[in-house]
Amino acid sequence: MSKHILKHLAIIMDGNGRWATKRGLNRTKGHEEGAEIIREITTCCANHPTIETTTFYAFSTENWKRPKLEVEFLMKMLDKYLKNELTTYQEQNIRFQAIGDLSSFSKSLQKRIRETEELTKSNTSLTQILALNYGGRAEITHAVNTLIKQGKSRVTEEDISSALQTPYSDIDLLIRTSGEERVSNFLLWQLSYAELYFTPTLWPDFTSEEMLEIIENYQQRTRRFGGI
Ligand code: IPE
Ligand code: IPE
Ligand code: MG
Repeated sequence: MSKHILKHLAIIMDGNGRWATKRGLNRTKGHEEGAEIIREITTCCANHPTIETTTFYAFSTENWKRPKLEVEFLMKMLDKYLKNELTTYQEQNIRFQAIGDLSSFSKSLQKRIRETEELTKSNTSLTQILALNYGGRAEITHAVNTLIKQGKSRVTEEDISSALQTPYSDIDLLIRTSGEERVSNFLLWQLSYAELYFTPTLWPDFTSEEMLEIIENYQQRTRRFGGI
């Protein structure tokens, strides 16, 4: 049996809060630890022979429901993360892209995101997409409205796929950490035939070794896409 090629990996990074609470720490400490893991996983993906794109769920359209202080912390952390990561992106030839509605973010954070995209746009080893203020339903609705604005009165699946924000739409493998077994409004359209893997590991404890084991598991699966 030939091994499935893994091109697009999506990750729901969950469990930062529980990781911190378990240690008697503030939830924000869990987010800080979590950010370090993104770096490790990204580097591992950039060196992987077949992965072309990774999409990480960093902030959902529903995460605004969290306490104001936690939301503010996450925004500051994102800005700091992108500022620090620029050297890594350039050294490792990684292209950064964001998906989601950035208009709710501060002007300076929007600028940081756009600049990071611009400065890394010619990098080719990996495209790292961060989903920021992202919701799958919002993305599909936005795509349909874009098509209506273009004058379409009937749309095809291809039309919708190409109007989505995610540059390479189909996900091969979705990993969610922390034991929750749901998609929480992530990439609803792009996940239609993805293989799903749920691990109890909390995101700050996730490692590249575990990811490589999960990829090994993915490669043993039978992907039928409706065929036999
Ligand atoms: C994921 O960890 C990070 C974000 C959603 C920003 P959580 O903050 O959801 O951690 P838990 O689920 O509360 O443990
Ligand atoms: C999903 O995690 C969103 C991100 C990881 C950014 P949540 O922790 O927000 O999801 P629910 O609320 O448990 O479904
Ligand atoms: Mg959570």
